[in-house]
Amino acid sequence: MFRTRSTITRIARLFSTKTAAGDAIKTFSIYRWDPEKPNQKPYMQNYEVDLSTCGPMVLDALVKIKNEIDPTLAFRRSCREGICGSCSMNINGVNTLACLAKIDRDVSSKTKIHPLPHMYVIRDLVPDLSLFYKQYKSIEPYLKQKRPRLRHEMKENYQSIQDREKLDGLYECILCACCSTACPSYWWNQDKYLGPAVLMQAYRWIIDSRDEYGYERRQKMQDPFSVYRCHTIMNCAKTCPKGLNPGFAIAKLKKLMAED
Ligand code: SF4
Ligand code: SF4
Ligand code: FES
Repeated sequence: MFRTRSTITRIARLFSTKTAAGDAIKTFSIYRWDPEKPNQKPYMQNYEVDLSTCGPMVLDALVKIKNEIDPTLAFRRSCREGICGSCSMNINGVNTLACLAKIDRDVSSKTKIHPLPHMYVIRDLVPDLSLFYKQYKSIEPYLKQKRPRLRHEMKENYQSIQDREKLDGLYECILCACCSTACPSYWWNQDKYLGPAVLMQAYRWIIDSRDEYGYERRQKMQDPFSVYRCHTIMNCAKTCPKGLNPGFAIAKLKKLMAED
């Protein structure tokens, strides 16, 4: 098939991993707020990033901006593998992990980045997660057993393969808070409603065959707010970057509580 020189050049460009400098300049519009300048309102700041010298993920762009353009930009990150849950933020309107979010290569549109919604902001993209962790602590996220163990009895707590499988889809949660901060019920009642991430972990310990405090754990949440503010809107499942379904876990938790 005959192809003109310009068509061939275009195809070559399409498949080339390298882009001529300037061809792939992407604008990132990033929420900024500095607690040391309390009179300055939050604002959006544009940064131009050359994608030909940047890794493929939004976190790569943020690191590049911080290293090469503006060291004052604040955000959390650690593993860059979707494991630590630190880099959760709102990217183009969706709560997700910056290290798992691919940069949209369409340079005609900006990528907009905000901190997780409806949270107090410590600085720039860093939300205050103190309440979230306090709520997590409140559900006692560890194994609790009634029978006092004698020293010589100290050994592993065995679990059948079937019982272990019940924890699949629950234990993988990395507590990034993307789901809780996408939940309208949590936005309006986060002082009293525990939110999807924490409730899914509460359920995870309640159904763990080795735990002996399921009933007490459920009783502690028997009030109009802790669990029952979930209205099964399912924003949580839609946004979870690990593909988990906290809304479904909450539905099963409610069922267990109704049977008590
Ligand atoms: S299903 Fe429940 S927890 Fe999930 S977003 Fe809806 S109200 Fe929030
Ligand atoms: S359920 Fe998903 S979105 Fe929610 S905290 Fe866990 S990993 Fe993050
Ligand atoms: S840096 Fe750890 S989850 Fe993104």
